[in-house]
Amino acid sequence: MSVVSKAVLQDPRAFDVERVRADFPILELKVNGKPLVFLDNAASSQMPQPVIDRLVRYQKSEHANIHRAVHYLSEKATSEYEAARRKVQRFINAAEERSVIFTSGTTDGINLVAHGYGRKFIGPGDEIILTTLEHHSNIVPWQMVAQEKAATIRVVPINDRGELDVEEYGRLFTARTKLVGLSHVSNALGTINPVKEMIATAHERGVPVLLDGAQAAPHMTIDVQDLDCDFYAFSGHKLCGPTGIGILYGKAELLERMQPFKGGGDMILSVSFEKTTYNTIPHKFEAGTPPIAAAIGLGAAIDYLTALGMDHVAAHELELLDCATQQVNRMPGVRIIGTAEQKAAVISFAVEGVHPHDVGTLLNEEGVAIRTGHHCAQPVMQRFKVPATCRASFAFYNTMSEVDSLVAAIRKVQNVFK
Ligand SMILES: Cc1ncc(COP(=O)(O)O)c(C=O)c1O
Repeated sequence: MSVVSKAVLQDPRAFDVERVRADFPILELKVNGKPLVFLDNAASSQMPQPVIDRLVRYQKSEHANIHRAVHYLSEKATSEYEAARRKVQRFINAAEERSVIFTSGTTDGINLVAHGYGRKFIGPGDEIILTTLEHHSNIVPWQMVAQEKAATIRVVPINDRGELDVEEYGRLFTARTKLVGLSHVSNALGTINPVKEMIATAHERGVPVLLDGAQAAPHMTIDVQDLDCDFYAFSGHKLCGPTGIGILYGKAELLERMQPFKGGGDMILSVSFEKTTYNTIPHKFEAGTPPIAAAIGLGAAIDYLTALGMDHVAAHELELLDCATQQVNRMPGVRIIGTAEQKAAVISFAVEGVHPHDVGTLLNEEGVAIRTGHHCAQPVMQRFKVPATCRASFAFYNTMSEVDSLVAAIRKVQNVFK
């Protein structure tokens, strides 16, 4: 799948990064006396002023609990919350609004599928296919299901570039395969997986696929109907929205057959001590008071990204990735881990003779924020035989001169450890 349209590639001037940066107050910060260079966007991205303003407006003049009262504020909050759901629906091109469930984040969405689908439809001797590239949040919930149900997890290996072995993937299917859990983009390496083909392979065998879209939704156009995925999970806080909100998309016929993960208010039609009747989807999966402000904030973030154009976002980030990859590749003693042909704007690297945490600490002294550690993807670290990596992850508001700052700061680290 191409993440950038030809028109955008031919006209990169359509995106004005300096104008975009002016929308992000936090980017004006100085850290240790140096301008902040924020390259930890894969962990959480920053929030533009229109989203901040939207949150303030909600709290100042629209807040009440939703779905429960007939007074003005409750009706206003309900209609804004449901409008946010429709914005998400359009953003990922879901066929139906009821396929969009508000969760607290990607982790919550995957747990919802593991408990609501996995615990109901996976039994002893069944198999779940995952990949070496998964974030822990797409491993641990499945291990919990597998342990409880005496099921087995089978793992798709990766090559030395950090790409999935798609042929081996095809061979892992058996008559007992019940689900595939697959990251759209790897958070540790940036690999963009060939998910459309992999979904088709699973569907030929009648197996549903859950995509972990935490690192894809912020960086490219997502079309769940075109992908034909059965579930798609992502987080608001990686998408210039608030923390505490995320999305689980699910095909309606699957969501209908699933059991709710959490019980409580709002997810029911009627309750007595003899019997409870569950609400219709998506409400069946939204027990209790949801993060109303955060959902509306996510809607505003989607408005912002849509106005910017996801094609422009992807094109600018691709330029940053190319520029950073070329510069880092020219540095003696620095090795990029994860060199897949299809990559999102993430560079994992190791500096010879320097522990990643020391690299991170010294970069911070230069105002450069990167992530160091195992990135909640320990199987990837084990595959590359490293305890941790340094990870620079870019967003559309990063600039070429920030790439230069990163490179200059890594040179300083090398000089300190010479
Ligand atoms: C690929 C991937 N999956 C899942 C998650 C978990 O997201 P959250 O912590 O927002 O639930 C992350 C977060 O870094 C991620 O990168």
